[in-house]
Amino acid sequence: MHILSVITALTLFFVHAAAHILSVSTTTTCLTVTSDSVLPLTFSTTISPTDNIDFSLAVGLGTASVNITPPQLGEIWLQNFDLVALGHAETGTGSFTLQIPINTNNAGFFTSGNFTVTVAATRAFGARYGTELAFYQVPVELTI
Ligand SMILES: *[C@@H]1O[C@H](CO)[C@@H](O)[C@H](O)[C@H]1NC(C)=O
Repeated sequence: MHILSVITALTLFFVHAAAHILSVSTTTTCLTVTSDSVLPLTFSTTISPTDNIDFSLAVGLGTASVNITPPQLGEIWLQNFDLVALGHAETGTGSFTLQIPINTNNAGFFTSGNFTVTVAATRAFGARYGTELAFYQVPVELTI
């Protein structure tokens, strides 16, 4: 291979390197539900050598006892986040936090107990943007 081709290939490789969500967690294990309560979810991202875009996140909530299993999102859905609009679609290695609304308006008909927050991430990777759904789950105890 000609040296310029190698340099071009390497440049493309590094220019297109992007990150994707690796895991989701929260420091709030117990949340008291009010009219404007939110659950902070922290998304850890890792750099990867291929194109990676996390387009959007759909977030749902289900009671722990019913065992929400992906692709189930939960008994209710909470919010959809446009990661491109929010500037979190192609982050480097690190993390970002989103505030998930869990309030009397959307979760008020549940009674206090243990719940599972499920996140479905729409993402694409590689030179041809193969798309897939990735799922993450976080437990939380709600006082309602
Ligand atoms: C939630 O789960 C924890 C751990 O299993 C348990 O100690 C707690 O009593 C549960 N909360 C409710 C309201 O059921």
